[in-house]
Amino acid sequence: MSRFAEPQHTAFRGLNDSIGFDWRLGPYDVEQSRAHAAMLASRGIISGEDRQALHDALAQVEQELGEGSFPFAPSDEDIHMAIERRVTEIAGPVGGKLHTARSRNDQVATDMAMFVRAHADQTSQAIAALARTLVEVAEAHLDWPMPGYTHLQRAQPVYLSHHLLAYVWMLIRDRQRFAAVSAATAKLPLGAGALAGVNFDTDRRQVADALGFSGVAENSVDAVSNRDFVLDYLASAATCATHLSRLGAEVVLWSSEEFGFCEVSDAWASGSSIMPQKKNPDAAELLRAKAPRIAAHLVALHGVMHGLPLSYNKDMQEDKEHLFDATDTLDLCLAAAQGMLATITFRRERLAAASSDEFLAATDIADLLVRRGMPFRESHGVVAGLVRTAIEQGMTLSELTREELAGHSELLDDEYYAVLSDGAWLESKISEGGTSLQRVRQQLERAREALSAR
Ligand code: ARG
Repeated sequence: MSRFAEPQHTAFRGLNDSIGFDWRLGPYDVEQSRAHAAMLASRGIISGEDRQALHDALAQVEQELGEGSFPFAPSDEDIHMAIERRVTEIAGPVGGKLHTARSRNDQVATDMAMFVRAHADQTSQAIAALARTLVEVAEAHLDWPMPGYTHLQRAQPVYLSHHLLAYVWMLIRDRQRFAAVSAATAKLPLGAGALAGVNFDTDRRQVADALGFSGVAENSVDAVSNRDFVLDYLASAATCATHLSRLGAEVVLWSSEEFGFCEVSDAWASGSSIMPQKKNPDAAELLRAKAPRIAAHLVALHGVMHGLPLSYNKDMQEDKEHLFDATDTLDLCLAAAQGMLATITFRRERLAAASSDEFLAATDIADLLVRRGMPFRESHGVVAGLVRTAIEQGMTLSELTREELAGHSELLDDEYYAVLSDGAWLESKISEGGTSLQRVRQQLERAREALSAR
C-alpha cells in the first residue's frame, strides 16, 4: 500500500532523486548498515538469524558495488533505498528489518560524516605529500637568491628556499584545519531516528565503536540537522585551494619570458595549436583557477543551510554535489601541484640577475644609518634621496661618490659600499624566521618536524 494515489511526476523525480550522485556513499552505507544490524541483534531487537541473513546480503551488495555490477533500478531514489531494495531482493522479507530503529535522516547524516572523515584524512595526506616535495625543492635551492616582492615590485632579496618554504607553512596550517574537520565528525548521528529518537532501547555506543566514532550525538534534533562538518570541509578546502592558486599564479608569472625564473617540465605543460614556439604552464593556470570553484561550493552550502528550520529538510540533499566536487577538485589540484613542483626547473642566473638589483638594498642602507644613531623614519628619507639621485643620473647606488653621499648625510662612509657588496643584505636577515641561510636551515628543520607529526 502507498499513501499516494498517483505516481511521481518525472520532473519531480528528476529534481528529487539523488542516486545520480549519492551512489558514492554506497560503501559507507553498507558499513553503517552492518553495524546497525549487529547492534539490533545484540539488543534482541532482531534475531541472530536475521542479522546473519542481513550481513550475508550486505556482503553481496558490497561486492556488487565494488565491482560495478550492482543492479541499480529505475525506481531507486537514493543510495539508501537502492541498498535496502537490493538487500531485500537477496535476503527476502527479512531485508525489511534493516531499517528498524533507523530513518534516512540519521542514516544520511552518518554516511556524510563517514565520507567527510575519510576524505579529510585523505586530503591531509595529499597536502603532506605536496609539502614534503616543497621542502625537498627548497633544500635543493637553499642558497639561490631571488627578488622578494611586495605589490609585485622588487622589494628585498630572499633565498628561493625561503620563498618556497612560505608555502610549506600554509600547507602545514591546512593540515591542522583538516584535522579539525575530522574531529568535527566525531559524534555519531545514527540512532537519532527521523529527529526525536527511536522506540527501541538501542545501543548507540556499540555502533559508534564499530564505525570509528568517538561518541554519540547528544541531541537527536541536532544530529539530523547538522552539516557543520561539511561546511568545515568546504571552508578548509577553499583555504587550501586558495593557497594552491597563489602557488600556481607564481609559477605562471615565473615561467613567462619576462621573468624566466623557472620552467615546468613537459609533462605539466601544453603547446599551442597555432604557435609552435609556445609552452604553456596550463597546470599552474588551472591551480590558479580552481580555487573560486571550491569557495563557491562553500558559499552555496552556506546559502542552503542558512535560515533552515530544524530538523531535516530536503534542501540538505544539496550538500552532496558541493562536497563531492570540492573533494575531487582539491585532490586533483594537490596531486597536480605535487607532480609539477617535483619536476620544475629553476634558472639560477635569471633569479640572481633579478635579485642583484642594488635598489633592493635600500632598507639595509637605512638600517646602517640607524645603527649610527639616526631615527629610522629619518634614514628612510635620506635613502629615498639617494635612490632618487641615482635614478636621475642613471646610476646604481654603489656608483654614487663619497661627495654625493656626504651631500645626503655625513653619517655615510665606506661601510655604505660594503653593505652593497655581494649579497651581504641577504645574510644580514638574521632575525628568527628571516632569510639568512642559518635561519632557513633552522626553518627547514622545523618544517620537517611539523610534517613528520602524524
Ligand atoms: N537522499 C536524501 C538526502 O540526501 C536522504 C534523506 C532523505 N530523507 C527524507 N526524509 N526524505 O538528504
